[in-house]
Amino acid sequence: MRIRKAVIPAAGFGTRFLPTTKAMPKEMINIVDKPAIQYVVEEAVDSGIEEILIIVSRNKEMIMNHFDETPELDQLLEKKNDKNLLKISKELASKAKIFYVRQGLAGGLGHAIHCAKEFVGDEPFAVLLPDDIMDAEVPVVKQLIESYERHNGTILGVQSVPRNDIPKYGIVAGDEIEDGDMIVSGMIEKPSVEEAPSDHAILGRYILNPSIFEMIENTPPGKGGEIQITDAILRQKDIENVYASVFEGTRYDTGNKLGYLKATVNFALKHPEVGREFKDFLEE
Ligand code: G1P
Repeated sequence: MRIRKAVIPAAGFGTRFLPTTKAMPKEMINIVDKPAIQYVVEEAVDSGIEEILIIVSRNKEMIMNHFDETPELDQLLEKKNDKNLLKISKELASKAKIFYVRQGLAGGLGHAIHCAKEFVGDEPFAVLLPDDIMDAEVPVVKQLIESYERHNGTILGVQSVPRNDIPKYGIVAGDEIEDGDMIVSGMIEKPSVEEAPSDHAILGRYILNPSIFEMIENTPPGKGGEIQITDAILRQKDIENVYASVFEGTRYDTGNKLGYLKATVNFALKHPEVGREFKDFLEE
């Protein structure tokens, strides 16, 4: 079945970015000239996704405003005959059909994804965590969709991470079946280095079969007292094959300061308008 829908959970507080996030959603933090969440929406659209559900919470109106039409601004740009900016402004609202649902309580990633049940219905769908920003030749979700087409099962986007970083992630164990694809045999959310079954970390991209909703409903709170999507996928693995796919590309964790700075430097160096001068500046 074709993957047409994506879910972007964006209800978190962003405490690692205080005080910036006191009044501003963390997903709206600027990377060169676009908010972080726009990179993720563009990845979904470039992967062929047509409908996106963003899971929001209180104080996230800025995200909805960002992807809305802006008739007053467009009028002004038309008057000024600034075709370039007008294109940027208009394109954004037409990128995909974007819907919103509120997660009233902070119950964990599994709980957030469950808020998408009605939107998703009975189709496989993509999940993109907006803290994880990708720089990849082929959009990462597109790579995972291709893997889904080979296997017809839930696909977790994974890469190897350094040992010390293992406790930050959902870690999967699996048996390789073909280039970069594995059948998942086990999975632990944020294990210690000693208990980790491998160094393959789930890095914020998933294609989930819709049976996941029933699994979430039967998943008790896990790590941190929250309903973890990792635990729900582990249950799904007992009724159908679940796969992990090693994707190509660089992933930046913009949920922390260092990752955010690295992403900013990377995307600034590649930016058509400022890239060259920025490179000269760094070399100086
Ligand atoms: C979440 C998931 C974790 C995954 C990570 C990727 O954790 O629970 O399995 O590896 O995203 O960034 P979080 O970073 O939201 O605590």
